Amino acid sequence: MRVGVLTGGGDCPGLNAVIRAVVRRGVRDHSFEFVGFRDGWRGPLEGLTMELGIEQCRGILPRGGTILGSSRTNPFKIDGGVEQIQENLQKHGVDALVAIGGEDTLGVATKLAELGVDVVGVPKTIDNDLSGTDFTFGFDTAVNIATEAIDRLHTTAESHHRVLVVEVMGRHAGWIALHAGIAGGASAVLIPEQPFDIEKLCDYVETRFETHYAPIIVVSEGAVPAEGGDMTLVSGEKDAFGHVRLGGIGDRIAGEIEARTGKEARAVVLGHVQRGGTPTAFDRWLATRFGLHAIDAVADKDFGTMVALRGTDIVRVPLSEGTAELKLVSAEEYAEAAVFFG
Ligand code: F6P
Repeated sequence: MRVGVLTGGGDCPGLNAVIRAVVRRGVRDHSFEFVGFRDGWRGPLEGLTMELGIEQCRGILPRGGTILGSSRTNPFKIDGGVEQIQENLQKHGVDALVAIGGEDTLGVATKLAELGVDVVGVPKTIDNDLSGTDFTFGFDTAVNIATEAIDRLHTTAESHHRVLVVEVMGRHAGWIALHAGIAGGASAVLIPEQPFDIEKLCDYVETRFETHYAPIIVVSEGAVPAEGGDMTLVSGEKDAFGHVRLGGIGDRIAGEIEARTGKEARAVVLGHVQRGGTPTAFDRWLATRFGLHAIDAVADKDFGTMVALRGTDIVRVPLSEGTAELKLVSAEEYAEAAVFFG
């Protein structure tokens, strides 16, 4: 069998570990051949390929990014896009696809599977917001990077008696903010699922200073104020999946805190630092297991499925189930973090 592999959407530490495991197991145990499709769905759409075998995968386990490249191309937004993909798969003799991606990439995989393309999905996103799996790889790395940043910001905030607002990624789900906020001892954590009250936040800031500590506020990029108002946008631009570019909420909050409390407040935006560089051991472990199980699903011709972590087991779930809804932080989980606010 000849198997195509692609990585789509925002990159994520652990993608290379998946590719390596897929190829290693596929070649050694199933005698498969592979072709790499470049830059997400743009690869099969435009016929952009690269050689992919055990040789190309040497040394990539600890490397961030993806050797295949990525993009947010949506073939369903392009006239004749699906037909072009089908033609290119045929042209390159590809019998099956392994698509590694988040909500959007796997959403495309779901629709293609319904149209008869033989595809198996591997869930990835640093946001950890895919409902079908307990965890996605990349999340642990992002949380560790954010936690280390918070640890460092505590000491400089204390020296200068100032508030530091740390903006982390998380468009619709506050998992990174919640986990890093708890691990880093934040004075407050603001997430998209729970609109925040700026007055209450300022009270937390005042209380924190009264106990002679400097407040660290961790905020997801998609957090919104309770008094209404839209998500803060960097620009009105949308990508091919209709997502707006977020950013700026940290600065806005720092400005409000200064104006309302008179305390100096600065914002630190962690941005893509959270997505770059080497994956943690947990993410390498999870990504490797996902890769092994995904190529086994191909060998079993169990198409239209995605691998998922349930407890410590890797299972297969229908692609449609894995991408049907976003996994969000519940009010109960948020309440656990709130014990430490102020
Ligand atoms: O989905 C992963 C993610 O990193 C989000 O947390 C973030 O909102 C988005 O991608 C940023 O996307 P990009 O940097 O590709 O524009």
